[in-house]
Amino acid sequence: MKQSARAGLRQSRMKPKRETICRMFGEIAPRYDLLNRLLTLDNDRAWRREAAALVPPARSRIVLDVGAGSGEHPDTSRLLAADFSESMLQRAQWKQANSSRVRLVRCDAMQLPWRTGQFDGVMAAFAIRNFVDLQAGLQEMARVLRPGGWILVLEMCGGGASWPVELFRRHFVPVIGGILTGRGDAYRYLAQSTAEFLSPQQLTTMLETVGFEQLQWKVLKWGIATAITGIRAEK
Ligand SMILES: C[S@@+](CC[C@H](N)C(=O)[O-])C[C@H]1O[C@@H](n2cnc3c(N)ncnc32)[C@H](O)[C@@H]1O
Repeated sequence: MKQSARAGLRQSRMKPKRETICRMFGEIAPRYDLLNRLLTLDNDRAWRREAAALVPPARSRIVLDVGAGSGEHPDTSRLLAADFSESMLQRAQWKQANSSRVRLVRCDAMQLPWRTGQFDGVMAAFAIRNFVDLQAGLQEMARVLRPGGWILVLEMCGGGASWPVELFRRHFVPVIGGILTGRGDAYRYLAQSTAEFLSPQQLTTMLETVGFEQLQWKVLKWGIATAITGIRAEK
């Protein structure tokens, strides 16, 4: 790992900078999927399926996945996968091989390169917690979504996990993450950023302020992940 990325995470016990986050995800990209499987005991795929089932079927609709990472998306016919980490997108590219249903776009969630109201659905899985400006990122997601379109956020919200989960996250995740990626600090950041993140109630309120309505949330197995859904208000 480059010294500057480590220093960036150390320096900011609060919120790391955009470049630090981007570099950090770039560095863990090769083993990101493996760690997801191991650290969730293979539950992350079930959470994704459960969350995807909460929104209308996305077939023949255009869906945007923000902070798409290594490409663990639901099965849709037309999906644009946006991420600012080149390494994550390369990994997604490698996984999808010749599939033409997903288009990968390198961009920042704070400035999405699409026109207003273009998508039928917009989603973000385990991504918004890392936004340097959460409000701006959510506003962008609302902007590119057509009125009446749906949003799906799958996230590790603050305050929801039971104590064994919290213990596991704080003490075991950085050790396992450190051994397998050499980036224990990145996995310490995971625990810290989750503990400091908004509760589902607070996140829902913020989504309301940027233009979503009919918001609902569902805490998934073990209270680790929460799925939040809503609809873009008509005006
Ligand atoms: C924890 S990973 C989640 C990846 C994927 N959505 C998943 O469910 O496995 C978070 C992703 O969000 C991306 N990300 C964080 N902040 C971003 C931003 N401002 N713009 C674009 N991508 C961002 C990171 O590069 C990383 O790939």
